[in-house]
Order: sequence, then C-alpha cells, then structure tokens
Amino acid sequence: MKKIAVLTRDCAGINAAIRSIVRTAFTFDIEIFGVLRGYEGLIENDLIPLNPRSVSGIINRGGTILKTSRSERFYNVSGQEEAVKTINENNIDGLIVIGGNGSLTGAHILATKYNIPVIGIPATIDNDISGIDFSIGADTAVNVALDALDKIRDTATSLERIFIVEVMGRNCGYIALNVSLAGGCEEVLVPEMDVDLDLMCKEIIEGNKRGKVSWIIVVAEGKAKASDIARIINEKTNLETRVAVLGHIQRGGRPTAVDRLLGARFGNYAINILKEGLTDYCVNLKNGELSTVPLELAIQPKKIDIENYYKLIKILM
Ligand code: F6P
Repeated sequence: MKKIAVLTRDCAGINAAIRSIVRTAFTFDIEIFGVLRGYEGLIENDLIPLNPRSVSGIINRGGTILKTSRSERFYNVSGQEEAVKTINENNIDGLIVIGGNGSLTGAHILATKYNIPVIGIPATIDNDISGIDFSIGADTAVNVALDALDKIRDTATSLERIFIVEVMGRNCGYIALNVSLAGGCEEVLVPEMDVDLDLMCKEIIEGNKRGKVSWIIVVAEGKAKASDIARIINEKTNLETRVAVLGHIQRGGRPTAVDRLLGARFGNYAINILKEGLTDYCVNLKNGELSTVPLELAIQPKKIDIENYYKLIKILM
C-alpha cells in the first residue's frame, strides 16, 4: 500500500485523527492525501498531499482542516462513479473515512459496490454508531453543553425559574441524556422515548409546593423545540420559563483529552489494519482495547439503554 486518502465530516478530535494517520503512514513510507470537503472533494478530484509538517499545530483545533460538506451527488451512482474515478486516477490504494452514519454509509458503498479498500473511523457528537462505544467528538460536545448548563443553573437558581435547554441530536438522545445526568437535571426529553408532559407539569407544580423553585429540563432537538416545551409548561404551571438553544457550539471547540486520545489511537490503528488488508470495517474501542466492527453493522441504528439512564436521572434529580 503506497497511497491512502482520508476524508472527513466535522467535530472536535478529527484533526487529532488526521495528524495520527499522516504521521503513522509516514513511518511506513505511505503517502497520505487529504480529500477536501468530504465526498464532494472525492467527486471533484480535490485532493491535497499531507505530510508530518502539514499536520503540526492542529491537535488542539476543533472542526476539520480538510473542510467538509453534505454531498447530495454521492447519493447517486453517477457521483459514486466520479468518486471512484478520482481514486483510480490518483492511484489511491485505500481510503479512510472519518465521520458518522452518513459518511460511513458512503464508505460501505465504496467498499462493497466498487471494491475500494476502506476503513471507517467513528466521529460524531451524537455517538450513535452501532456497535461503537465511543465516537470522536461526543465527549467534547457533552462537555461544552455541560459547561453551558452549569452556567444556566446559576441563573435558574438565583431567579427561581424553569429553564428548557435544547441540545443537539436529531435522531438520538445521547447528548441530552449524558448532559442531564452529569448536570443533575430534573427532566430530559429525547427522540427515543415518550414523556407524559401532563405528568411532568403536575410533578413541577407539586415540587413547587414543596419549595422546589428551579428546574432544568433538557430537550434533544429531534424531540421538540425548547420554545414549544416552555410554552406548554408555562401554560400548565403558570411558572416562569426561559429557553436556551445551544446549537452548533456543541460541535466545535477545543477537543477534550478524551477526543484527542481517541483520534490518535483510531488514526494509528486505521492505517495499520488497512495496510494489513482489512476493508469495510470501522475501528472501535471496546473495554479499553482497539478492535473493529463491520461497517454493515456500524451503519445500523444504535440502541442505547434509555430506560436505565432515565431512571437514574429521575432518582438523582
Ligand atoms: O449528526 C451530528 C449533528 O450535529 C446532529 O446532532 C445535528 O442534528 C446535525 O448534525 C446538524 O447538522 P447540520 O450541521 O448539517 O445542520
């Protein structure tokens, strides 16, 4: 294996993975090319050579130095064929795809339909890749959201208010559940679970009578808009509510040590297994050990233990 290309989505810790890929490859005399703007760059033949020096000073930076985009064209066979043409014309022997479900689905298509040697690295703030314990970016996102939530709690307590905090997660409550548990929140609403809003409002009224004066309710964006939940609570309880939508600040920022370490280990491992001839797999960290999960499995919806998380949040509120 002489030439490997790498393409990415964006979240904190991906730059640490790119750095690790480039510097590990260098020790094997393998050239690394960065694909600009994700699958769009693969279709457009937009590749840049990377070397150990070009990845210096990036380990602490969020986002991706390669830039990224959503590629509608890659959904079509014509786009996929253009991408394969780029791989062949540049004599690329293997591809590493760093991203979430969408990116890894593309990787699986390239491996199975077009016989391209591909390894995936899980990177998504939603941590929703099946069979994968930890995705790059999830720890930073939870910490960023937690930091915001701690600040909001100061005002919630001082002014005796109910705050509805909306966090990211279109189909998945990972950030919401973890932030709620780590932040000591009173309630959490996630796409995977129904919550009885009437009952929740009754609990708030009863709590209020007992002297509980501030509440923080976390809602994942895929479940409901924080403003709608705030309106319902205000109508049913007559208590003062405020809203905070955290948005994309959760996806950027300085990567935590956890995400940098994942990036470093995953990047190094991906080069090693690709070089050994493995393809159509995603790297994983299970019980502290590096391992792999077939991409076919990784791209299935992930089941998380919502019930037990929720129970614990309610016990500890
Ligand atoms: O999948 C990661 C994620 O950040 C989701 O949590 C969020 O719903 C979505 O991406 C936002 O996507 P975009 O940045 O394209 O609006």
